[in-house]
Amino acid sequence: MLLEQAKVVAIPTETVYGLAGNALDKAAVAQIFHIKNRPFFDPLIVHTHSLAGIDELVQEFPVAARRLAEQTMPGAVTLLLPKRSHIPDLVTSGLPNVAVRIPNHPLTLALLSSLSFPLAAPSANPFGYISPTTAQHVADQLGDRLPYILDGGACSIGIESTIVGFPNQQATIYRMGGMTIELLEDLLQQKIVLAPQQSNSPQTAGQLDQHYSPTAPMLLGNIEQLINTHSDRQRIGVLSFQNPYLHLPNVVERFILSPDGDMIIAAQHLFAAMRYLDAQHLDLIIAEPLPEIGLGRAINDRLRRAAAKATHFPPL
Ligand code: TXA
Ligand code: MG
Repeated sequence: MLLEQAKVVAIPTETVYGLAGNALDKAAVAQIFHIKNRPFFDPLIVHTHSLAGIDELVQEFPVAARRLAEQTMPGAVTLLLPKRSHIPDLVTSGLPNVAVRIPNHPLTLALLSSLSFPLAAPSANPFGYISPTTAQHVADQLGDRLPYILDGGACSIGIESTIVGFPNQQATIYRMGGMTIELLEDLLQQKIVLAPQQSNSPQTAGQLDQHYSPTAPMLLGNIEQLINTHSDRQRIGVLSFQNPYLHLPNVVERFILSPDGDMIIAAQHLFAAMRYLDAQHLDLIIAEPLPEIGLGRAINDRLRRAAAKATHFPPL
């Protein structure tokens, strides 16, 4: 089997597709970085199928973290815990913690239980680009570099896992994601803090300012106002939450994330929408933020990073 031969393949998860290889084999891990063109300072999440699998990866599993894992895994959450020495430093970029997660996808859970090793897997996109939520997205960009893509259908969550660490026993979010902060606070019965954003030497690359970026310039804000200030643009695409914004000048493409205003649906469609708009040869993509609650916070986080490139906004 390819994975047993230290090969790298794409796998489905409920969040986004991953680029997976044997987490305990340095050659396989190095190959993941190579295929993604990912810098070695950006560590990988290790995927396993059970809490017993996590026990084999971490030195300690503090009570609060274990209880949270029991309540949320398999699911869209990743925990940062002290790593055991047999995990290659390449996986964790030399950091003392390893990121562990049990993905909630039947095919990948079956795959993980059939293997004798865990799988390191970043999102299956070239570094800095939008994460893939279908097998076709992976094939479009990395198809010629991969021997196999396991097609598990469209991702049911559509946005990456929420990364939680416990520095000094304080539950801390390093990346907002598919599991909401409100739910996590409810389960932990404590306030969660957000890790400070360190864009130059990020603790996690999910914190890099510019990430998840389309190739076309993208702006985030009030759609009507932004259309007015950029009336020189001929081909504008609009990415909105629920309003169709009909009758605006120069808008040639629009994508409504959820006409009913459902954030779960909006998250499912977000990355496919960004990819779709990016393929339309637009001068400008204009997106609006969602209400800053629940999944809206993670969606806005991705939109903000995608729009961070607007600082390089090219003149016409
Ligand atoms: O939903 C997900 O988490 C998906 C699926 C495939 O599981 N994976 C994913 O991986 O989003 P990736 O590599 O695209 O993002 C993982 C993030 C990066 O920002 C990385 O810096 C951070 O997790 N990370 C991984 N290991 C870490 C560690 N040991 N300490 C701190 N941050 C870590
Ligand atoms: Mg990624």
